[in-house]
Amino acid sequence: MAYTVPKLTDYSAAALVKAVNQCIDACQAEAAAVKNESELKLLRDRWLGRKTGILTQINDLWLKGSPKGEKREVGIHVNELKLRIQILVEGTQLAVGETVKAVSDGVDITLPGIRRPIGAEHPVIKTMHEIVAVFQKLGYSVAEGPVVETDYYNFEALNFPPNHPARDTQDTLFIAGQQTKPQRERLLLRTHTSPVQIRTMERMRPPLRIVIPGQVHRNDPPDASHSPMFHQVEGLAVDTNITFGDLKGTLDHAMKALFGSSVKTHFRPSFFPFTEPSAEMFVSCFICGGSGQRGSDPCRPCKQTGWIEILGCGMVDPNVFEFVKDNGYDPKKVSGFAFGMGADRIALLKYGVDDIQLFFQGDVRFLQQFS
Ligand code: DAH
Repeated sequence: MAYTVPKLTDYSAAALVKAVNQCIDACQAEAAAVKNESELKLLRDRWLGRKTGILTQINDLWLKGSPKGEKREVGIHVNELKLRIQILVEGTQLAVGETVKAVSDGVDITLPGIRRPIGAEHPVIKTMHEIVAVFQKLGYSVAEGPVVETDYYNFEALNFPPNHPARDTQDTLFIAGQQTKPQRERLLLRTHTSPVQIRTMERMRPPLRIVIPGQVHRNDPPDASHSPMFHQVEGLAVDTNITFGDLKGTLDHAMKALFGSSVKTHFRPSFFPFTEPSAEMFVSCFICGGSGQRGSDPCRPCKQTGWIEILGCGMVDPNVFEFVKDNGYDPKKVSGFAFGMGADRIALLKYGVDDIQLFFQGDVRFLQQFS
């Protein structure tokens, strides 16, 4: 028998639920029986028709006809019922046949799917990839190593003797509970990517050309230019007869490839335990073109000097080769150069971002600008 809207006498919740369910069951049965377009039209008119459709009748009979005190409760049930009937009937409209079942099971297949935006490379990772790519084109391979490192690789084999003051410059974060181990086995968060130099020389015999991207940590309080976690790209070339001239030529080329062919490089003496001689390399400021001025304003990124410090470098100290001598790195026979740069700092400069914290706060509005 075709469904007709009953009059309600009992407005209790149980009675309402029962009436609602009967109505839905009836609608489901009718929707499932629809076979063609004209039956579908009849279904729509019968249930959703504005003037005399079943939903309108329910509104009049159940809601308007209910006692004053019950109206709120009845309204909630009627609204829910309307929504479900609409979904059922409209769903039937879009998908006659087998999908009618899916709709009546409570899955509204007519709703649009969930759109997941495609991600993009993080600006720091993107910068690291760009730096790495420059060296790959020169024939360098990529090497990586662990972020949790031993004292041996992070310090000792890089010619930082135990208790040497150069260790203090690296504000190390140590892993707790290591005191019972011999010092060289104690774990820490690597403070630089340089330990991967040793790890790779242990595995591969010379000649060697590697570039090493990775995450490093230091016990620095976060501010606009410091983060306890940051990124470096390291490089190492070892062969017979590698000279400081090779270092300068390679790095000058790399800077031109990264910042544009008009940048100049210059080197100042410095100190690192693992290189001798050591240098800091500067590039002419690619923001002000080396003038130190931006119009009438001082150029902030280069502090008006016209030069930006970009990396540390030097000739591999023979003491470092001593640690891997057995794998073909006899300091009397081979020489090499190494360098290390901060990828986050380069990304800050490249994109004109003035606070490193923005890179790591995960604010999609910030990150979207680089996609
Ligand atoms: N490891 C150094 C640091 O984190 C950077 C560095 C300097 C790396 C000179 C090198 C190098 O390979 O030769 O401060």
